[in-house]
Amino acid sequence: SRGAATMQQELLFKVLVIGDIGVGKTSIIQRYVQQIFSQHYRTTIGVDFALKVLQWDGDTVIRLQLWDIAGQERYGNMTRVYYREAVGALVVFDVTRASTFDAVLKWKEDLDSKVTLSHGRPVPAVLVANKSDQTASQLPRLDSFCRENGFVGWFETSAKENTNIEEATHYLVEHILTNE
Ligand code: GTP
Ligand code: MG
Repeated sequence: SRGAATMQQELLFKVLVIGDIGVGKTSIIQRYVQQIFSQHYRTTIGVDFALKVLQWDGDTVIRLQLWDIAGQERYGNMTRVYYREAVGALVVFDVTRASTFDAVLKWKEDLDSKVTLSHGRPVPAVLVANKSDQTASQLPRLDSFCRENGFVGWFETSAKENTNIEEATHYLVEHILTNE
């Protein structure tokens, strides 16, 4: 008889990581993929790529192709090219800078205007409130904000302290899978 190992399926998902300059997109990806964190800020130019391979369950391997889009690209005209064939997104802001939260809706609009799933629905987007290690005060709950603005959910993360990054991506992948 054929063993279960021969029945493995492999899925490739293109996931975008977007949000304003300096919110921690590259740091989140580095933490997730390489388990490292650096205080040193080096801005992303254009786009960077990283691959995370997940043994999702007994018969599914998921290759997550992470597209780390420079915050500066919101003012450029390349995002249409970068977003092509994406199936999910993390939309990141910095909890210490309100302007980056305001920008979240601009990123979401940019995303929805430039890419949809094959059946025309928006790609699932998770809202990520990063640098949670930096604030003493509690962030208000963002459930209604997410419902009203088409995010599938939200997570408070810290790339520095490795808080909730696996949870946020796992949650996004679950939503991507329901669209398969
Ligand atoms: P661009 O590439 O310019 O769009 O920025 P980015 O969103 O990729 O930000 P990046 O990951 O480069 O992080 C910017 C700065 O914030 C760096 O100095 C990081 O060390 C810092 N940083 C990122 N995540 C965290 C975090 O969770 N906590 C703290 N305290 N600092 C963070
Ligand atoms: Mg970056």
